Amino acid sequence: MTNVELPTAEASLALVGHLRERSPEFGALVDELADAAVALRHVGLTQWQMGRLGSSIEALLAALSLQPQSSDMWRDLASVYNASANIDAADSAIRRSLLLDPQSAQSWLILAGICDRRHDPAAAEAAYRRTIALDATIAAAHFGLGLLHFKQKAFEKAQHALSIAADRDPENGLVQACLGHVLFIRSDFEGSAQAFDAAARLGPLDPESKRKRARALTFQAMIEGSVAQALLNYPTLADGDPEDMTLIIRDAFSVLSASGHLEAAAELGRIRLAEQPDDPVRRYLLDAVSGTAVTAAPADYIESYFDRFAPQFDERLVKALHYIGPTVLFDRVRQHRTRFSCILDLGCGTGLAAEALSSGGPVLIGVDLSSGMLAEAEKKGRYTQLVKSEIVEFLTRSEARFDLIFAADVLIYFGDLSPLLAAAARSLVSGGLLALTLEIGKDADFTLLPSGRFAHTPDYLARLAASDFMVLDLIKDDIRLEAGVPTRGLYAVLQRH
Ligand SMILES: C[S@@+](CC[C@H](N)C(=O)[O-])C[C@H]1O[C@@H](n2cnc3c(N)ncnc32)[C@H](O)[C@@H]1O
Repeated sequence: MTNVELPTAEASLALVGHLRERSPEFGALVDELADAAVALRHVGLTQWQMGRLGSSIEALLAALSLQPQSSDMWRDLASVYNASANIDAADSAIRRSLLLDPQSAQSWLILAGICDRRHDPAAAEAAYRRTIALDATIAAAHFGLGLLHFKQKAFEKAQHALSIAADRDPENGLVQACLGHVLFIRSDFEGSAQAFDAAARLGPLDPESKRKRARALTFQAMIEGSVAQALLNYPTLADGDPEDMTLIIRDAFSVLSASGHLEAAAELGRIRLAEQPDDPVRRYLLDAVSGTAVTAAPADYIESYFDRFAPQFDERLVKALHYIGPTVLFDRVRQHRTRFSCILDLGCGTGLAAEALSSGGPVLIGVDLSSGMLAEAEKKGRYTQLVKSEIVEFLTRSEARFDLIFAADVLIYFGDLSPLLAAAARSLVSGGLLALTLEIGKDADFTLLPSGRFAHTPDYLARLAASDFMVLDLIKDDIRLEAGVPTRGLYAVLQRH
């Protein structure tokens, strides 16, 4: 961290003399204010307003050398350093200010902004909260906190903070527009459109906000009435900048499915299937939102869906959806055993678990139905062998040779788990481990979700596992985000009798 160096008092007085000579107004100001430090601060602030950041810093440093106990001037200096992107110096100056006056809400607010710029979200959040504790009326603190939560994809908290910011500062169009985006992510389309309208009353909307507003109004109309009419009205709402209709229909389908508006989603699903009747993804996802009885995702759906998804899978799952399944599951395994002789990554996908798993033993085999996913897994360079196969068929063909079967986010494509668990038990050596994740369901043993994945009850797993396995470890934790909300999962480590 930079320590801000002050000039000597002599040098600062020399600067005062020099300014006096150059500017009679400055001389008059010093006489009038009878205090060189106050006059230098005034110069510093004026130069800042004029965008002359270097001169502003010079004047503020000189003022501080004459009055180093002024917390306000340290705060001014921090703000100018911040404006000039000298973050280390800004940090050092604001901390000096806070040492002198820890009760200044404005100084904590500036520290929060600096920590945010330094990519230290924990420190930024603490500083925003301190600001709010000292003065809850400061809208900028709620706004900053809301944006911080937004970046962390903590959308519920972001909505809360941005709503308070909008209440405190109703004339701020940027706050309203940000609120519109968060409400959209949280599937409150009506609230989202209202927030965008409030922003539009305060100034022109940026193109992205205009598009989101049109989508929010269209999706809300789909929920409330006819999907077909909402699609007809969309170009007018898009106000000269319509998005591709196929994109709107696809996204409306996935957003309305994920947010539980199943009637509208099913209507959209039928439109999509009518466009491409042979598409296995469209067919299966329509089944999923229509509540059709299914016991596993069909193989043609898995292949087609994951082949298309493969190139963006890592980016989307890890960055956008905060997918942590492989990491959490591998940590659970390590609590029980760290070395294995033959590991199977079941439904290995792009190999997100490969690095961790390959550290656990000399042989790592990956199996998956999707050649697109396998091609990505190959690039990771960690597998001894990659096999394209349906996983129950693969396990049924295998002899008992694995001492770890790792199944992250793959059993969710099976409703009835009994064939898979029986086949996994046969291909494990005695004492071998089966590590798996599930999405947690209620009531029925398994439920097909609108996402096309299945949720299972913990009881169901325990009942099925009892004959061949002992449960070593069972925890509930987040898996990834779904419609902006964390999906709770079950992480289990079972040991073969
Ligand atoms: C959500 S991805 C998870 C990939 C990986 N395990 C991970 O955690 O990143 C699910 C993977 O399981 C595969 N899969 C699903 N059902 C399958 C089946 N019946 N047979 C083979 N692979 C399957 C898919 O192709 C996809 O690659």
